[in-house]
Amino acid sequence: MAVITGGAGGIGAAVAQRLVAEGGAVVVADIHFANAQQVAQPLGDAALAVHLDAGQADSIAAMIESAVSHFGGIDILHNNAAITTPEIQRQDTTAVDIPVEVWRQILEVNLTGYLLGCQFAIPHMIARGGGSIINTASNSGMVGDVARIGYGTAKAGVINLTKHVATQYGRSGVRCNAVAPGLILTEATQRSVPELAKNYARHLALPRLGRAEDVAALVAYLASEEAGYMTGQCISIDGGSLMHQPHFADFVGETT
Ligand SMILES: NC(=O)c1ccc[n+]([C@@H]2O[C@H](COP(=O)([O-])OP(=O)(O)OC[C@H]3O[C@@H](n4cnc5c(N)ncnc54)[C@H](O)[C@@H]3O)[C@@H](O)[C@H]2O)c1
Repeated sequence: MAVITGGAGGIGAAVAQRLVAEGGAVVVADIHFANAQQVAQPLGDAALAVHLDAGQADSIAAMIESAVSHFGGIDILHNNAAITTPEIQRQDTTAVDIPVEVWRQILEVNLTGYLLGCQFAIPHMIARGGGSIINTASNSGMVGDVARIGYGTAKAGVINLTKHVATQYGRSGVRCNAVAPGLILTEATQRSVPELAKNYARHLALPRLGRAEDVAALVAYLASEEAGYMTGQCISIDGGSLMHQPHFADFVGETT
């Protein structure tokens, strides 16, 4: 069974649907409980909606306990919640300008929340002989940008957290990998950066923008025994946007 944080969002919901379609059971955990219920309800008995504030240790512990008491154990943790509200994103600017309380809030939810998910879930995984943790990183965790220093730094932390957890618990049967999406079209991205999709498309090696289902397929693979010999990796899923020379867009231009 799998616990998905930020399970009511675009990518989390697609992961929940994919894992249930493959015969799994999921906890859909989100700060927006009503939205989590909307994702869980059509999935029937295979899904349980749980309220989670990923910025609060007690809430993360309670989410893991709910999963264990409802489904009898936990095999997969998808740490995926992140603050994606435009109000916070607007303030997540540069080193000089970001309010330190905004920086702390972003790191608390987007990075410390992932550590605590691991902290509370791993003992239950080990008790069952192992498990698979998948952390949602981002292209933003690998490069600099003109804004979003808090988000990018948190995602960079997620990539190294992944390698530490993989190193520390691999011998106990716990694998830990990260997925690093580029721009994925979800309600959140369309709401917060409406003009970004057109600009971004110029930099893609592939002829379309990313979908939540693309990421869900990769998460499902990493969760499965098919990926049983993979750990500590961060896999980009970005249409090839970060793997080429910067002048690519000048030569090739717009796609979709
Ligand atoms: N969509 C993209 O282009 C993209 C690209 C790279 C990485 N990502 C990452 O993918 C993940 C999912 O993003 P998404 O695109 O589905 O966005 P989304 O906003 O649809 O999903 C994020 C979910 O996290 C939840 N959340 C926010 N704060 C929370 C908290 N304190 N506690 C519990 N839940 C909380 C939100 O309610 C939301 O449902 C995030 O980690 C995001 O950083 C997304």
